[in-house]
Amino acid sequence: MTVVELIERKRDGGALSPEEWRTLMAQYAAGDVPDYQIAALAMAVYFRGMDSVETEALMTAMLDSGRRLDLDHLTVPRIDKHSTGGVGDKVSIVLAPLVAACGVAVPMMSGRGLGHTGGTLDKLESIPGFRTRLTLEEAARQVERLGCVLIGQTDEIAPADRRFYSLRDATATVEAIPLIAASIMSKKLAEGLTGLVLDVKTGAGAFMTRLDDSLKLAATMISIGERHGCPTVALLTDMDAPLGVACGNAVEITESIDVLKGGGPADLREVTMTFAAEMLVLGGVSATMDGARARAEQTLESGAALEKFREIVAAQGGDPRVVDDPGAYLPRAAIESVVRAERSGTVQRVEPRVIGRAITALGGGRNKVTDTIDASVGFLVHVRPGAKVQVGDPLATILARDAAGEAAARVAIGRAVTFGDAPPKARALVSHRVSRQGVEELGSAGAS
Ligand code: URA
Repeated sequence: MTVVELIERKRDGGALSPEEWRTLMAQYAAGDVPDYQIAALAMAVYFRGMDSVETEALMTAMLDSGRRLDLDHLTVPRIDKHSTGGVGDKVSIVLAPLVAACGVAVPMMSGRGLGHTGGTLDKLESIPGFRTRLTLEEAARQVERLGCVLIGQTDEIAPADRRFYSLRDATATVEAIPLIAASIMSKKLAEGLTGLVLDVKTGAGAFMTRLDDSLKLAATMISIGERHGCPTVALLTDMDAPLGVACGNAVEITESIDVLKGGGPADLREVTMTFAAEMLVLGGVSATMDGARARAEQTLESGAALEKFREIVAAQGGDPRVVDDPGAYLPRAAIESVVRAERSGTVQRVEPRVIGRAITALGGGRNKVTDTIDASVGFLVHVRPGAKVQVGDPLATILARDAAGEAAARVAIGRAVTFGDAPPKARALVSHRVSRQGVEELGSAGAS
């Protein structure tokens, strides 16, 4: 069977067998199938979809294209969290050291920002010296020693997904439930986990903008995880506005350190604590959500989570002085300028995609995988939907490297922040919990 015949079959609504996916992904990872054929196949999947058997086959094919992190000798639970991607989403940077400081090992493998979404790896690399490219052996040793590692997908882990995901980003085929599910789960199942908590973002800044699609994505990933013996839970969280105040790379590290020091924005703290509780219960370290939350709060307050972050930074080659004085050691933008409200009223929307794309335009994101990024640029967004503002109140602070960037960012804030007179409909920060038992509506902690 040629690759053209496989594309034709998918285009016409048929399915590829597990053996066909396995061979194709192995050949793709080895560089034996050209990107344009896989791009055509991805577009066929985008329009035709895949059932659970085929999604599983693609996931397994990508998983088996690489190696796995072997942590079976550890006696502690190994739990990771993965987000489907958003704007201002720095939860992982606080969560990983916090949960590790509570006694759960967190072998966290994160992604880079592509499209309008930010990436944990890019944020971490704004810390001078911080290495996210560790070998699997180095990663395993660090998990044994510190209970946590923060790394990127190496060539060793699901290399077929690594190539496929960048290609999808460049061919408008990211937003397909079976492709996202297979992509995320192929990486997570390679981490040798005993449990996984997924952050499925929903809203205008998420890949899945509609609630029913987010629920379907969550259910698809949970069934893959459970089938592979990895208990998996998903929380649906709001991405209709940026999370927290900071949006950019270095500036999100500063905000994460603020949370680790007991401060930071309330929405970011709330989402982080909810995930921490899930991970501690899934890891069996706490019996109840309330107990787990109390333990996470204590660990944060005691400074143990901050210390764990400092250890991780130092172990991965980063400058640990960043933890004490982020302003002095993280890259700083040449221009900081405040955008003020030109009218009074109630903020209706803070459009996360507009903010995300504006970060890329400032130089803080990539248009192509090979672009280098400027970690210093971004925004501090001072308002959320529902905020009442008067003329002259600060809406956002632009962090730019030159005047042209600042001018374009000003236009973007004008488009992103819209006003009205009535309060917008409140959205829950964490709206649903999905597990193999089904969907539970939480609907607590309004986002506005
Ligand atoms: N994150 C991933 O790792 N893969 C996707 O397809 C989307 C988000």
